[in-house]
Amino acid sequence: MSVIVRCVLMLSMLTLAWANHVFITNHLEGKEDLHIHCKSKDDDLGPHVLHINQSFRITFRPNFVTGGTLFFCSFQWGNGHLFHFDVYDQDKNDKECLFECKWYVHKDGPCRNEGDSSVRKCYPWK
Ligand SMILES: *[C@@H]1O[C@H](CO)[C@@H](O)[C@H](O)[C@H]1NC(C)=O
Repeated sequence: MSVIVRCVLMLSMLTLAWANHVFITNHLEGKEDLHIHCKSKDDDLGPHVLHINQSFRITFRPNFVTGGTLFFCSFQWGNGHLFHFDVYDQDKNDKECLFECKWYVHKDGPCRNEGDSSVRKCYPWK
C-alpha cells in the first residue's frame, strides 16, 4: 500500500472511531430533580429526569465535513421556568469540548472545569 493510501485509511478510521461525549450532571442547590431535553438538528434525545448528582451522557460524532454540529438542551426544575443552553457547539472551536465536556447544572447556569488548573467556570443561561 502506498503511503498516501495508508494515510487516508488511517484518517478515515480515526474519523469513524471519533466519539465526543457531553455529560450533564444535576448539581442544583436545592437537590431538585432536573428535567432536561436535548436536541440537535437531526436528533431529539427525548426528555430525561436527573436526580441530584445523576448524569446524562450524549455521545455523538461531530460532522467534520460540514461543521455545524450543535446540541442544545432545555432545563427545568420545580414548577419553574424553562432554561436553555447550548451544551456543544462545534463551530465555536471550543477546545474544552474537543473530546468530552462535563457540565454541572446549577440554578444560575451550567458550570464546568476549564484548563489544566481545572478552574470551575460558570455560564449564564442563554
Ligand atoms: C452530590 O455530590 C456531592 C459532591 O460529589 C456530594 O457532596 C453530595 O453529598 C451529593 N449529594 C447527594 C444528595 O448525594
